[in-house]
Amino acid sequence: MLPRMDSFVIHGGRKLSGSIAVSGAKNSALPILAVSLMTDAPCSFGNVPLLRDIQTQVKILNTLGVETTWQGRTVRARVKDTYNSTAPYELVKQMRAGVCVLGPLLARRGEAVVSMPGGCVIGERPIDLHLRGLEALGAVIELDHGYIKARTPAGGLRGAEIYLGGKFGSSVLATANVLCAAVLAKGATVIECAACEPEVVDLAECLNAMGAKITGAGSPRIRVQGVRRLKGVDWSVIPDRIEAATFLIAGAITNSAITVTGCRGDHLMAVLDVLRQMGIKVERKGTTLTTVPSGRPKACEVVTLPHPAFPTDAQAQMMALMTIAEGTSTITERVFPERFMAAAEMKRMGARISVANGQAVVQGVDKLSGAEVMASDLRASAALVIAGLAAEGETRISRVYHIDRGYERIEERLRKLGARIQRIAGSDAAPATASGTAG
Ligand code: UD1
Repeated sequence: MLPRMDSFVIHGGRKLSGSIAVSGAKNSALPILAVSLMTDAPCSFGNVPLLRDIQTQVKILNTLGVETTWQGRTVRARVKDTYNSTAPYELVKQMRAGVCVLGPLLARRGEAVVSMPGGCVIGERPIDLHLRGLEALGAVIELDHGYIKARTPAGGLRGAEIYLGGKFGSSVLATANVLCAAVLAKGATVIECAACEPEVVDLAECLNAMGAKITGAGSPRIRVQGVRRLKGVDWSVIPDRIEAATFLIAGAITNSAITVTGCRGDHLMAVLDVLRQMGIKVERKGTTLTTVPSGRPKACEVVTLPHPAFPTDAQAQMMALMTIAEGTSTITERVFPERFMAAAEMKRMGARISVANGQAVVQGVDKLSGAEVMASDLRASAALVIAGLAAEGETRISRVYHIDRGYERIEERLRKLGARIQRIAGSDAAPATASGTAG
């Protein structure tokens, strides 16, 4: 089913207050759901956010013979048949993360056919690291008619020493794919320049709970001792650090006291540090983070890099905050240098931003003014919502199906904080392109 072209109408310039609970991490749940392919035993995954990307991943798994049932935010999954090992274009084009079934399928079934995810609105998005890592384990891979066709050699995958660094550093989903394949390979694997993101740690811990032998996840060197089989698991995914960052920035831009509950503060250190540099106080008590009204933010310099540095997925939201900061801020994007789609839309709201060579220069203005803008991808949409909350007058954001990929009922949750935000149902279907699949 194609998403509807709904819009949001926001009447901004109001203070918010109250508390908001963070959902389970989309980017953790996506690869973790795929590990259900790696065992015949039943698996149960809790704290799964109810999002369009998750539904797409579940559909991909169903196509691959995994039977799933939902109970609240828990997905129970069990492999029922293994006839089809093809993840089709119609589904993978909706969400690049569909590629994370590649490693699990290959490891368990000895073959995988997965549509090549293609580029998207934030840049080219190659898959060379995924393929290089799997080939190092012995996989035989060909690219054929838009599909990655991978199979294991006679005797199966074999552990290896793998350098998984690319020109932009580590890759989250390449690490996930290679890690899953290494878990069921014969012998020992070392993944050097592995992604250190908390979502990789969550995946590794889930696999270990299934009987895998992984050490070092969360550091650039992961070691895996292959095992013959995995058992089922009952796992709960970590809280979504990007969603938490989005709400904290919403609190900061509206100069409000917002309490975000159920957070992992240790996953948010870089974001909290930038907020601190901007003069925004955030109180941390256990798993709760509260923004303290701190007045107009100060300008800041931010560089996005792989974890533990500032996350690219919070870059657009932080840019929204910078638009009203005192002074001139810069954002240098080192993960996806073309990822500045929110800038042009925020300029329609009075922001002063210039973008060149992977860097945005943001001259703070006193106020944003509401305007008609269009969401281009998931995090750019979140940035426009944040800007709309602060802007004077009415902001109308079209194509909010992008935001539904990564934030559960965001307008209802923001309304509970006092925001004036309404969803206007649209009837037209969105074009079925791979654009805007970043996330
Ligand atoms: C994941 C996240 C996404 C986030 C991104 C970076 C999921 C579902 N998505 O995407 O929200 O923005 O991490 O934190 O977890 N690259 C290569 N070759 C490859 C793979 C990647 O050169 O084979 C490059 C990319 O173009 C990019 C950089 O490596 O410049 C990091 O991308 P990567 O970590 O792979 O992003 P994803 O895992 O796809």
